[in-house]
Amino acid sequence: MSVGLFVTKPVEPSPHVDAGEPVEGSLQGEASLKRTLTATQLVLLGIGAVIGAGIFVLTGHAAAAHAGPAIVLSFVFAGVACAFAGLCYAEFAALLPVSGSAYSYSYATLGEIVAWFIGWNLVLEYLFAASTVAVGWSSYFNSFLGSFGMALPASLATAPLNVVDGKLVHTGGFFNLPAVAIVAAVATIGYYGIKQSAVANAVIVTIKVVVILMFVAFSIQYVNPDNWVPFIPENEGPGRFGYDGIVRGAAVVFFAYIGFDAVSTAAGEAKNPQRDMPIGILGSLAICTVVYIIVSAVLTGMMPYGLLGTPKPVATALEAYPALTWLKHIVELGAIAGLSSVILVMLMGQPRIFFSMAQDGLIPKMFAKVHPKHHTPHVGTIFVGVVAALLAGFLPISFLGDLVSMGTLLAFATVSAGVLILRKTQPNLPRPFRVPFAIIICPLGVLTCLYLFWQPFAENWVVMTGWTFIGFVIYGLYGYRHSRLRRQG
Ligand code: ALA
Repeated sequence: MSVGLFVTKPVEPSPHVDAGEPVEGSLQGEASLKRTLTATQLVLLGIGAVIGAGIFVLTGHAAAAHAGPAIVLSFVFAGVACAFAGLCYAEFAALLPVSGSAYSYSYATLGEIVAWFIGWNLVLEYLFAASTVAVGWSSYFNSFLGSFGMALPASLATAPLNVVDGKLVHTGGFFNLPAVAIVAAVATIGYYGIKQSAVANAVIVTIKVVVILMFVAFSIQYVNPDNWVPFIPENEGPGRFGYDGIVRGAAVVFFAYIGFDAVSTAAGEAKNPQRDMPIGILGSLAICTVVYIIVSAVLTGMMPYGLLGTPKPVATALEAYPALTWLKHIVELGAIAGLSSVILVMLMGQPRIFFSMAQDGLIPKMFAKVHPKHHTPHVGTIFVGVVAALLAGFLPISFLGDLVSMGTLLAFATVSAGVLILRKTQPNLPRPFRVPFAIIICPLGVLTCLYLFWQPFAENWVVMTGWTFIGFVIYGLYGYRHSRLRRQG
């Protein structure tokens, strides 16, 4: 039985894939999705998924409570961990251009049960992240409407339940209408096509990047270097400033980097995945890292870090300078755009991972259905859209933010280990992209990701363990019996 649980899915070398050309059989039957995405669109998809709540919401709290001006170093630390993992994703995505991302890579290297575990964790990364970010989107949107005296009443912008001191309480809210609306709108775009989604994403990404550049260009003159002193405030206890605070801050802002790996879920729809996957993954990661370092340096230079601990730190920093009031509204618009594209790419990624899992028989076949006209995994897209909308609209999910990061970090660590394992088990596979110095980079990827995982795990281990347990029960009841590979073998 244990051999069966750790059965690995054979990796077949993928022949070169040309634009629009289905490759029957060799890509694990993925020919039914349409290959339309270019390298630029893949980079934009990455930026679309990455820049969002992390920088527009979490940075302030991470600076005020954990790292001070050294939040810049937290971004560097988290960025380095992501760079190790990103290189590993790039090797896998070029070698195995299918839509299952870390799930498929684990299946090929560590076996079915690990693949299931990672696929289950990717639900945290994609589906839960989409809902969490939708709740953030709702706050920004309602506050923006409020600037024009049109804010929705709290009962229509708040979930009916919340968790306070570990207990479920009624908030008096009815449901979070804007959160449900944005998920529904984005899922509809996802239903109609990857190309439509990519075009919508490109427009939104352009808006958010222009807004961020405007923020930096107009605010930099208000930076007072005195606010950067002391750069690393003295430690005040576990996770509060000093070196410890930088690491805790890195675990918080890691959320800001989540999403560059979502590029790999579009591998089944890339025109030239062997060449363009590494460009999409590493290109978006590099651009976002630079943006984060600059924005966090400007933010902490504009005002004392202790004052940045609000849910809207960028707007908060601008409020301190009356001459920049005009920019505040533009930044709010940028945040609304930024968060929309994160939801878009996450809601595109999840059905594509389900698509791969369903093809392998680990979840019901209906998730592997492709729309005859739009060539999208439409059943999965509807399912994911409905669940994400319900979560965002009715449940207190913001407290699950840490779970999103933990699920992602486990996936990153596994992918980093997987590259090294596949180099040993199948050294001769043609690898269009190779992680340089893999013997050093891959273990560093595993260690840094597990180190960052450990920070929130110590506080959230009960929920994380519960989530894992539910996953294994579902595997035992369904995936174990229906796995295509084990039934063939
Ligand atoms: N990286 C994404 C964000 O910050 C999840 O919103």
